[in-house]
Amino acid sequence: MPPKIRKIAIMGYRSVGKSSLCIQFVDGQFVDSYDPTIENTFNKKLKVRGQEYGLELVDTAGQDEYSIFPAQYCLGIHGFVLVYSITSEKSFEVVKVIYDKILDMMGKVTVPVVLVGNKLDLQLERVVTADQGRKLAETWKAVFLETSAKQNEAVMDIFTRAILEIEKADGNISPDKCLIS
Ligand code: GTP
Ligand code: MG
Repeated sequence: MPPKIRKIAIMGYRSVGKSSLCIQFVDGQFVDSYDPTIENTFNKKLKVRGQEYGLELVDTAGQDEYSIFPAQYCLGIHGFVLVYSITSEKSFEVVKVIYDKILDMMGKVTVPVVLVGNKLDLQLERVVTADQGRKLAETWKAVFLETSAKQNEAVMDIFTRAILEIEKADGNISPDKCLIS
């Protein structure tokens, strides 16, 4: 079977770790320095349940609640990874705004989404509880994960779960099977 090409946009407030998660997933590296993204794409092959996927990750520039939503991010995109930092209340507010804009743009009631609370290694600076994240994801019927790009914690899960959500939306797997990761 040829690989299925799936395009995933990574979005969120600035400096939450969108690029770091992509780089950790694609290259297995973490960089401490901060280099704001304009736009970048990453490609990686990933096998999920025996199917090969060609993942195209669109690593977007940090958004805030006032940013004009880049409409091109909705074209040909199969799923979204929305990232906030557990150390930033503001970034948690921003993912909600981005989510609403995505639904508007896509003209759909649900879209495959993985909600990610990153910087899990910074427990002492945590201001967004896991419960808050979980509850938000529940209202979206989305997957929720807490991750650390720095410690490579649950980073691969983001993309595996994104693929499963996309397949679920396409009707290729039953929703309950998605619970087993
Ligand atoms: P923009 O491209 O400007 O939107 O930022 P971004 O969301 O891509 O964030 P980026 O990956 O550039 O990371 C921002 C800063 O946070 C960098 O200094 C990273 O080293 C740091 N960082 C990213 N992920 C983590 C993490 O899981 N833990 C810790 N401690 N720091 C992280
Ligand atoms: Mg970036």
